[in-house]
Amino acid sequence: MSVIAVVGAQWGDEGKGRVVDYLATDADLVIRYGGGNNAGHTVVNPHGHFKLHLIPSGIFYPATRNLLGGGVVINPPALVRELDGLAAAGFDCANFFISERAHLVMPYHVMLDQLEERERRTAKLGTTSRGIGPAYVDKVARRGIRVVDLMEPDDFRAQLHVALARIRRVVTGYFGAGGDDDELRPAIEEATDEDRIATEYLTAADRLRPHVVDGQALVDAALVDGQRILLEGQLGTMRDIDWGTYPYVTSSSPIPGGASIGAGLPAVAIDKVIGVAKAYTTAVGAGPLPTEMLDAEGEALRERGIEYGTSTGRPRRCGWYDAVAVRFSVRLAGYSSIALTKLDVLDGSERIRICVAYRDPQTGAQWTTVPASTSVYQRLEPVYQELPGWQTDTTGCREFTQLPAAAQAYVERLEALAEVPIGLVSVGPERDQMIVRGPG
Ligand code: IMP
Repeated sequence: MSVIAVVGAQWGDEGKGRVVDYLATDADLVIRYGGGNNAGHTVVNPHGHFKLHLIPSGIFYPATRNLLGGGVVINPPALVRELDGLAAAGFDCANFFISERAHLVMPYHVMLDQLEERERRTAKLGTTSRGIGPAYVDKVARRGIRVVDLMEPDDFRAQLHVALARIRRVVTGYFGAGGDDDELRPAIEEATDEDRIATEYLTAADRLRPHVVDGQALVDAALVDGQRILLEGQLGTMRDIDWGTYPYVTSSSPIPGGASIGAGLPAVAIDKVIGVAKAYTTAVGAGPLPTEMLDAEGEALRERGIEYGTSTGRPRRCGWYDAVAVRFSVRLAGYSSIALTKLDVLDGSERIRICVAYRDPQTGAQWTTVPASTSVYQRLEPVYQELPGWQTDTTGCREFTQLPAAAQAYVERLEALAEVPIGLVSVGPERDQMIVRGPG
């Protein structure tokens, strides 16, 4: 039996979907354990180029079952659109399942996400505006609506009625002095239109019904059977609700503890945790990012790496590899190994920098871990070690020894700093552009 969790070691968008797509060849079951359609995974395989938001990356292997665990929040119409897109590409998704315990993202969550961001004015979090935070708020406040409720139209209508009565009261609070939110009124009316939501969601329910299962029973049977299970993370440690750059975080736990809860399996069942780290750093959304390059070099990295959000299309903030953040992630998540992605994007760089510590310009103090205080973290400056670049195309390399010596030295340095073996190195988006270094 083997249960492997694939977890983001940075700020998200590390290439987890690509790594899961690669590992799913050997998996019987792939489970998404948290987040919602804020996530975006780009998967390039022999069937084409796909952008997945909710559906796990194992969907392309017909013999692999794919589950949205109870820890995921699901926007039913968005999920139906994703299923329709895959159906158009020839995938019937008979191998796709949804845990009945997962919570729903409702239109008013999307609206609240936007209203809350507006209210933050200059201190916006830069959320994906997909309603993820407010959906988790309702879950924790014990008033969320779940997939199991959606399957029972009368239950769903009753819960929707109660929820909307409350939401209308909340929304009234946003119309204060000056009435400057008036332009939002039509959108708010739509997001609180009970009949419209009931019709839209119950139509989606009929489409999703064949996929809805008792997720825990499915996972338990797979464990008893000794099946190979992959737990697919979304986002990364630095956006974890407890351990990330709070409040610039998502509302769930991308780290392996979240995988146990969200997938519905015992924590001790996880045999291996693979941390996915990009060979440099990217982030979308606000918050501290010490290695961010706001210059032509950062711009060039963005263009070479095609660093634009899969879900929102937003340009990603780009910077050098932050070994302090990854080491923090290693300590929290306990990676067995790291999969390093997009090494080829650095092919053109004359010299490459690694952030090995932070320096506080106010006190002169050096930091070798991530501070809890966001205002302290905002002002820390990176301390760089510089390595020579290789300026050679690595996209055709399939063995570690085929990489230029400088590229090998870079990977080895990252490995030493992370104190965890780097088992996989990707040098391009295609399935076979992967260097396997060790047992992984
Ligand atoms: P939320 O998850 O939409 O509430 O956004 C919270 C933070 O996580 C924001 O900084 C987002 O930009 C970031 N975020 C959410 N989903 C993704 C993703 O798939 N990739 C990268 N960042 C994300």
